[in-house]
Amino acid sequence: MKICICGKGGCGKSSILSLLAYSLTRSGKKVYVLDSDESNNNLFRMIGFDYPPQSLMDFAGGKSQVKQKMRSRFSKGEGEPDMAVLKETITHPGSLPDEYIVSHNGLSLMVTGKIQHALEGCACAMGSVTREFVKHTSLNADELMLIDTEAGIEHFGRGVEAGADCVIGVVEPSLESISLAKTIRNLTIASGSEFPGVIVNKINSGQQKEIVAGNLHNAGIPVIGYLSYILGLQDAGLNGFALSDISRNDEIEYITGKILQSCF
Ligand SMILES: Nc1ncnc2c1ncn2[C@@H]1O[C@H](COP(=O)(O)OP(=O)(O)OP(=O)(O)O)[C@@H](O)[C@H]1O
Ligand SMILES: [Mg+2]
Repeated sequence: MKICICGKGGCGKSSILSLLAYSLTRSGKKVYVLDSDESNNNLFRMIGFDYPPQSLMDFAGGKSQVKQKMRSRFSKGEGEPDMAVLKETITHPGSLPDEYIVSHNGLSLMVTGKIQHALEGCACAMGSVTREFVKHTSLNADELMLIDTEAGIEHFGRGVEAGADCVIGVVEPSLESISLAKTIRNLTIASGSEFPGVIVNKINSGQQKEIVAGNLHNAGIPVIGYLSYILGLQDAGLNGFALSDISRNDEIEYITGKILQSCF
């Protein structure tokens, strides 16, 4: 099962993914995390690693080589969704060379790549690497992949979600976030993936919960679960601490149970 976590910028995608990664690991799953966000660079800390692995972009030969490959394939009339840019097809994350994956306690991390230089060009090469990797990997029954996406919906245009089995939205208590959740639901269905619903994050009061729940209900968007605003989570992010202790939380355990029920 390959699950994309999507939502508006700053709504809590990476935090929720990290909490779920710990919780799913405790429930006996082997969890592969793919960090496909080309900007932010803190996920490895949130899930307890001292350093990230080398990027899949490096595995593909580097960004300029991937872009060159894409240009030559475009000129031959190949469409992006079918375009192969990796050096070799990886059918299981475990077959990546050691330097491209770090693992501990049933949790593994891979990283697509980060933007490093001014004027290095658009991030489409990153999208292509992520799409191809997600599309070709298949997992065993006791394994799952959580894919952290960059803010917004550009990755849908790159076809990343088409290779995933399902997309879970994250919504914070704002109208923009709720509105984007509707777009994410529609794009997910158009991609051919499942949309089990959204996780509502950073809830501060019963009243907020009621308003968000009402809006999502009216939009026909199922809620998988709610996560309260947790000051300790924000502090952990500020200090670069792993979120393992915070993941031992009733709301997260409930959401994990729902995901295991609806996605397996
Ligand atoms: N439930 C929560 N309670 C308190 N703070 C939270 C909660 N969830 C996320 N945060 C904080 O909100 C900020 C954004 O969280 P996070 O980086 O997980 O969001 P994101 O959606 O991945 O952002 P981006 O779009 O930039 O990738 C961080 O400072 C994080 O600590
Ligand atoms: Mg993030």
